[in-house]
Amino acid sequence: MKHVNRRGFLVNGSALAAAAAARTEMSAARADFPWAARQTYLNAATEHPLSVHSTRAIEEYLHALSHGPDSARDRFENGHLMAEVKRMFARLINASPHEIGFTPSTQTGENIVLEGLDIQAGGGNVVTNDLHYGGSLLNYAHRRKAGMDVRVVPHRDYQIDIRDLERVVDRKTKLIAIALVSNVNGYVHDVKAISDLAHAHGAYLYCDVIQCAGAIPIDVKAMGIDFLACSSYKFLMGGRFGYLYVREDLQGAVLRPRLFGGRSTPSGASRYEISTASHIGCVCQHQALQYIHALGVGRIAAHARPLIDRLRKELPAAGYPVITPETSHSPIVSFRLNNPEEARARLKAANVIVTMGSYLRVSVSVFNNMADVDRLIAALA
Ligand SMILES: Cc1ncc(COP(=O)(O)O)c(C=O)c1O
Repeated sequence: MKHVNRRGFLVNGSALAAAAAARTEMSAARADFPWAARQTYLNAATEHPLSVHSTRAIEEYLHALSHGPDSARDRFENGHLMAEVKRMFARLINASPHEIGFTPSTQTGENIVLEGLDIQAGGGNVVTNDLHYGGSLLNYAHRRKAGMDVRVVPHRDYQIDIRDLERVVDRKTKLIAIALVSNVNGYVHDVKAISDLAHAHGAYLYCDVIQCAGAIPIDVKAMGIDFLACSSYKFLMGGRFGYLYVREDLQGAVLRPRLFGGRSTPSGASRYEISTASHIGCVCQHQALQYIHALGVGRIAAHARPLIDRLRKELPAAGYPVITPETSHSPIVSFRLNNPEEARARLKAANVIVTMGSYLRVSVSVFNNMADVDRLIAALA
């Protein structure tokens, strides 16, 4: 295995920085994701393939773990790399690095927010909606059983009407919790309107951004987001661990840390950390976030747009009604399925990977192109 100089690799990103910077054309990104040559993979919203750059870094890390010596392992397991990863994630959402803590997952982040706000003890309520993630809705169902006042707003035609939220938010509302982009259908919430509603009632806004971080621009300040969490295995391109953003002035007094350990710091959002974050996740994210920044989230979003637009136009004509509002510009689009078994068989025969449940969900990323979309349409038409 090629020896990589510590400073060259960690500080300058070595091969990756060079590779990512060279990707001025989005079409060149396809070669960085070998999976795309093997299957028509339109499923980044479930799990993003690893890039060759993340894979190489992880392989080098594993080699250091199995062969040593200490100094080789320390090239990957060090505070500098972790701080750099936090800085890059903070930049992605227009936050400060001390507003970012590592968390094992999105749902852990949401639980930290729910526990830290003292909602139930203070007689408060939580407002969410049924386009939030199923696992989170399960969390709220458990909490309701335990006595929490939880209000779940139903969608209307697969979008959330702000007037429905206005009807249930009151002075006792402590938190509005949403998936900024819904995993169900890629619906993009009107986040600023929801944030204004929350703040006008003295409540806070939590956003689950796992279905959009790295895929569409997120600005916590402009959007008025108070708390945010996500994992890295979707549009952040790999590494099974996550991030928690807590607005600086809410840390401590408003959002109390409830769990403590060797990683809990006296200040900053790392006060919500307990144990050391996944090193393998950090190694992967160190590469992936450089890659995303080098491409630019604006360009990544622009790349997805015509692919999604074409699916939205062609699949309804083939008998798959779209359930994603036209105004939602995300990398995800979903369709109703009249005959799931037939669709599943056709996609299997065509070697096309999407999410199939009670509906068909298609998601696109930097490695996808119009030929992928055409193969999906041809398989279903
Ligand atoms: C919107 C949304 N939130 C949360 C999750 C689960 O995230 P985690 O495994 O990081 O808790 C998913 C997984 O598909 C999701 O789509």
